[in-house]
Amino acid sequence: MNKTISANNKKNAGETDFVFDYSPALESTDMVKINKQNKLFINGKWTSGKSGKFFDTINPANGEKLAELTEANAEDVDRAVKAARKAFEGSWSKLAPKQRGRYLFRIARIIQERSREIAVLETMDNGKPIKESRDFDIPQVAAHFFYYAGWADKLEYLFNGRNVSPIGVAGQIIPWNFPLLMAAWKIAPALAAGNCVVLKPAETTSLTALLLGEIIEEAGVPPGVVNIITGAGATGAALVNHPDVNKIAFTGSTEVGKIIARSTVNTAKKLTLELGGKSAHIVYEDAALDQAVESVVNGIYFNQGHVCCAGSRLLVEESIADIFVTKLKRRMTSLRVGDPLDKNTDVGAINSAGELKKIKGLIANAIEDGIEYYEPEATTLPQKGYYLKPCFFNNVAASATICRREIFGPVLAIQTFRTPEEAIQKANDTTYGLAAGIWSEKGSKIHKTAQALKAGVIWANTYNKFDPSSPFGGYNESGWGREGGRHGLLPYVEVK
Ligand code: NAI
Ligand code: MG
Repeated sequence: MNKTISANNKKNAGETDFVFDYSPALESTDMVKINKQNKLFINGKWTSGKSGKFFDTINPANGEKLAELTEANAEDVDRAVKAARKAFEGSWSKLAPKQRGRYLFRIARIIQERSREIAVLETMDNGKPIKESRDFDIPQVAAHFFYYAGWADKLEYLFNGRNVSPIGVAGQIIPWNFPLLMAAWKIAPALAAGNCVVLKPAETTSLTALLLGEIIEEAGVPPGVVNIITGAGATGAALVNHPDVNKIAFTGSTEVGKIIARSTVNTAKKLTLELGGKSAHIVYEDAALDQAVESVVNGIYFNQGHVCCAGSRLLVEESIADIFVTKLKRRMTSLRVGDPLDKNTDVGAINSAGELKKIKGLIANAIEDGIEYYEPEATTLPQKGYYLKPCFFNNVAASATICRREIFGPVLAIQTFRTPEEAIQKANDTTYGLAAGIWSEKGSKIHKTAQALKAGVIWANTYNKFDPSSPFGGYNESGWGREGGRHGLLPYVEVK
């Protein structure tokens, strides 16, 4: 490690301050094997798509092509749904619950054994720092499979002794921000409850889902129980509209969530939606400020803000606003933006050129509107790839787009408040309601605030903490239903 005082250390925010420069510490990619052309996983076999079409998946860290993926068409979707139906009627729904649990335990253990390889692949395809994929995503993936494996033979305890039965075939459509974790959130409870699934990963991040297909094969899961098909929106729409799917689980944009809600409204399909948010991080004047700064940074800058529950709005009490913003600026100068495979990287690459363009456009509009803007001047970005400096807008009006729209990038909107009532009113002034954070040293204030916030997940004196036993989901346009915990099983069962 080469410790020197770096260039971006020149005093910031009026305090003596310095950042260490580190020599690059790149994680090796040797253990990752990427097929140049990838097939679909249907009925336990790797099969070519009927359209014969492929599309590229890119490494956002350098813009280079990683592999080609099959574009599944409606016929492929139909094959996958039929395979899932056959597996469901044939063996899976009749298997002793304990046996289903065994398969899930096996998947969880293989994920743990191959965790380094999976983490590196996730980082290459998604652009998130290896620190995140290695220490958060993949351990959480294994934890979810372990957790739901434990539920498989305890389903009669879901509703105090009443029997539950599986619902059949679930179509699951997931986004690119936590590719394998979203797959685990959806597949693990569905299988534990005795359903079979067709999963469609996001078009920019399908590689770890395909690797999960290999793991499912290795675990000996019967053919057709899990089918994985790649493709973009049209493939997803074909799955949503397939008449023999009993349930759709979707995580992604509000826009697509609404389309799916409209297309399933006149059908018997069950539907759960997780659609993002504009979550508020409230910092009271009695908070532990340095810890709160770290929490705000964790809430919006780590993982490039590609987090549905990102703390994208900071509400800070007026009396401490100046000092808090000063501390925040100082912390931002020490964030390392760069190669996601570098173990020192805090902020990696934006997932795609399209996302980068969208975020830059929203930033440019807000700057044009005259909103006070800050980005750490000395932070440098790699020449190749899709990168953005962490930034914030200060004193933002509640009506500003930057304060209302989900940006899905490392962009924070800061507002102030004078009383708890004002903090609560401002936090709830959103069409979303996924998450919130509260910082105060007074437990009573935290409880009072939490009771009044209209958000599905509320963290106190921390942010972005997850556990498989904790349900996750939102109010209003943040979606319908919950994932995780006991609640995460409910959409996959019929209660008798
Ligand atoms: P998206 O909602 O278009 O994509 C999510 C998934 O839905 C992908 O697998 C996609 O292929 C699929 N999909 C797209 N159109 C579909 C359709 N008509 N029917 C069925 N499936 C369909 O999200 P996208 O385009 O990747 O990102 C757009 C914006 O959405 C982002 O900039 C961000 O603001 C937000 N977003 C929110 C997420 C969250 O977790 N809340 C995750 C990803 C994106
Ligand atoms: Mg899209």
